Amino acid sequence: MTVADIEETYRPYGGNSQLFTSKQPELILSGPAGTGKSRANLEYLNYWAMNYPGARLLMVRKTRRSLGESGMVTFEQKVLHPAQGVRFYHSAQQYRYPNGSILAVGGLDKPSKIMSTDWDIIYAQEATELEEDDWETCTIRLRWGGLPIQQMIGDCNPAQSTHWILQRARDSKTEMYETRHEDNPMLFNRDGTMTPEGERYLSKLDNLTGVRYARYRLGLWVSAEGMVYEDSWDPKRNIINPFPIPDEWPRYLWFDFGFTHPFVCHWAAQDPDGRLIVYREIYMTKRLVEDHCKDIRRVSRWGEKGGEPLPRALIADHDAEDRATVERHLGMYTTPAHKSVSDGIQAMASRLRAAGDGKPRLMYFRNLLVERDRELADAKQPTSVLEEPESYIWDLRQGAKKGDQPVKEYDHGMDTDRYGVAYFDLVPSTVKYSARIY
Ligand SMILES: Nc1ncnc2c1ncn2[C@@H]1O[C@H](COP(=O)(O)OP(=O)(O)OP(=O)(O)O)[C@@H](O)[C@H]1O
Ligand SMILES: [Mg+2]
Repeated sequence: MTVADIEETYRPYGGNSQLFTSKQPELILSGPAGTGKSRANLEYLNYWAMNYPGARLLMVRKTRRSLGESGMVTFEQKVLHPAQGVRFYHSAQQYRYPNGSILAVGGLDKPSKIMSTDWDIIYAQEATELEEDDWETCTIRLRWGGLPIQQMIGDCNPAQSTHWILQRARDSKTEMYETRHEDNPMLFNRDGTMTPEGERYLSKLDNLTGVRYARYRLGLWVSAEGMVYEDSWDPKRNIINPFPIPDEWPRYLWFDFGFTHPFVCHWAAQDPDGRLIVYREIYMTKRLVEDHCKDIRRVSRWGEKGGEPLPRALIADHDAEDRATVERHLGMYTTPAHKSVSDGIQAMASRLRAAGDGKPRLMYFRNLLVERDRELADAKQPTSVLEEPESYIWDLRQGAKKGDQPVKEYDHGMDTDRYGVAYFDLVPSTVKYSARIY
């Protein structure tokens, strides 16, 4: 297989094609959802690997696991051709080319593995997830010297208007190329008309609202107005790296039921100082409660060697039928959640803020999702509670004020935690139930 063959199967357009001609040491492809940014970056890596024997290339994302769900899939299914003879070596976490080039993969949640060696090109997928420190640490590792260029490249959907990537682009430290839906031949024909896939995909994006619409449909770097947890949510503070949770820490399960909307189950542990740590999440549409229960049992491994302690309480949304299903399948009683919104939001907000010791009293594990809902991801809906706070906003229509009512959207995970937090902070202890065995 030659470069000409690759070019025959792939051609970059618009903003994406600038990646292939730019000599900038740092560059980012930005744009709304599905414009072909990641495909372009991966084709670019493959081009160098094929043409320069011994090239050392690296693809990173904030977590290694998310790379397995995204970049590696596109790379294997769309970019690599069997005739190239490229193989993935699990132990080394790298693709090896017959000519000695490698493309390694890694998560910046475990930087020591990848940052102890040097590279020619590093590609950061969904670069907005990174801290600026992560990005800069990568740039210092670009000194292998196996290619005529050294480059730090990346892609992202737009994020908030104060994001470091936008700032870096404005300061001319990083070149930013804008991409559009029209640049992706899967969505638009060359004459500017939409393909059937384009119609399908863009109609999904048209269902988004607020900042999600602005960012994923229009490609704008905008911040949400009136975020419910604006003064309390801080991903740097509230999202933490996972650690083994001691068996003595009491466990809880919190539920928000849904089928068309996501069903959410959160596993929480309480540390000896009363902090709540949400360490695992199911966030999934179109699956029956009884099937969720099987998954809950499977991952909790209650009663097995090395399994988790049984939860002390199951706090659930009120739907009687869904509660009964959970009780029957898990063999434990549920407690109906205290659902009032306004005091619940205040209780959540106060736990999310830093307490006197500098730590919040509600935290989330970074890799908490059991399985990503592909359909939600494809439609750029949140796929986890961790993606909600930025688009969960106050309803400011018709003269309503901040603090009156939130817009009932992008709130499924946050609602689940509101129920959980209310159980600890708003429900008098005399009316609490425990997860008695059914
Ligand atoms: N030039 C092209 N030729 C053929 N297919 C393409 C081209 N560009 C993109 N695609 C296809 O379009 C789909 C979306 O592309 P890709 O995942 O690169 O988009 P993206 O901009 O990274 O999306 P997101 O914003 O969601 O990360 C993929 O299936 C990809 O293979
Ligand atoms: Mg992408």
